[in-house]
Amino acid sequence: MESNIAVIRGDGIGPEIIDAAIGCLDAVAERFGHTFHYTFPLMGGAAIDTTGVPLPQETIDTCLQSDAVLLGAVGGPKWDNLAGHLRPEKGLLGLRSALGLYANVRPALLYDQLRNDSPLKASITKKGINLMVVRELTGGIYFGPRGFRQGKNGQEAFDTEVYSINEIERIAKLAFEIAMGRRKKVTSVDKANVLDSGRLWRATVSRVAESYPEVRLEHMLVDNCAMQIVRDPSQFDVLLCPNMFGDILSDEAAMITGSIGLLPSSSLGTTKPGLYEPIHGSAPDIAGTDTANPIATVLAAAMMLSSSLGLTQETATIEKAINAVLDKGYRTPDIWSNGCKKVSCSKMGELIALEILKTK
Ligand code: IPM
Ligand code: MG
Repeated sequence: MESNIAVIRGDGIGPEIIDAAIGCLDAVAERFGHTFHYTFPLMGGAAIDTTGVPLPQETIDTCLQSDAVLLGAVGGPKWDNLAGHLRPEKGLLGLRSALGLYANVRPALLYDQLRNDSPLKASITKKGINLMVVRELTGGIYFGPRGFRQGKNGQEAFDTEVYSINEIERIAKLAFEIAMGRRKKVTSVDKANVLDSGRLWRATVSRVAESYPEVRLEHMLVDNCAMQIVRDPSQFDVLLCPNMFGDILSDEAAMITGSIGLLPSSSLGTTKPGLYEPIHGSAPDIAGTDTANPIATVLAAAMMLSSSLGLTQETATIEKAINAVLDKGYRTPDIWSNGCKKVSCSKMGELIALEILKTK
């Protein structure tokens, strides 16, 4: 198969983790006889430095013409003092919007090999963690009216949470579809005791649930949910969240699996190419040191192969390769513990690529 993949390296550790992922994609191409054509459009800080804006039109066009988009991470202290509309993060938000990526799917899975890396007690992790955050990505407070204004006590700033029934329905449907292929439970997260948008969210999700009688639906207030995720994460299957709650809870869900460096995510729309990225950010504190964990990005590339290119066997091969490398005791510093072999980001990428070439 021949595919066009737009690769956005980004900022901070972005280029390092992307290089490791490309090494693994090249191994997949070699092993299965595919050709992946890469383009490298700019976004975030790298785009600001070169073009003056975080999301050049050329980047949007390149992504729209590709079969899928693979992204490292964007942002860093260098660009922190720019106005909101010029920040690197605005590039990512703009791209999500331009590609119509309304759904962000973030699995949180506890690997057997890394059970001891979870910050939770063994009595909690022994029941396992395997949950899927399904986050609405192009609505809510991230995209509602915002601004600065003069109030009676001086300057004020405001951001607005807005959801339409249509936006809630389409993300809810996806969550129920995903749950049908899993343990058939959806926990819908809101703040319906305070927010009108939360009440519309809850009513709409309940209505969508009627079309999925096999799936058990529960509603949970976001503050309680944050607590339940650390009390007993095994109770969750699919967590359906509005944009900002999903942002927050997916970091929490990622951390309890041992390292945020392990978890990939996919952002999907209806027709345009999907975008695949690690959950974590650009980690400017370790950028350039070759110590980042590339596994989340390699897994994002794996998700891309099955979700956007229909290559399911290839995805399974990457997942097996990662397991094999972990079984052999190789660890990047974030997941290293006594008795394991500490390796760099690039070395971890090479080890996984080698396994891809030989895993049956
Ligand atoms: C994420 C990130 C982004 C978000 C930032 C970088 C805009 O935190 O993908 O979770 O808030 O969505
Ligand atoms: Mg986030």
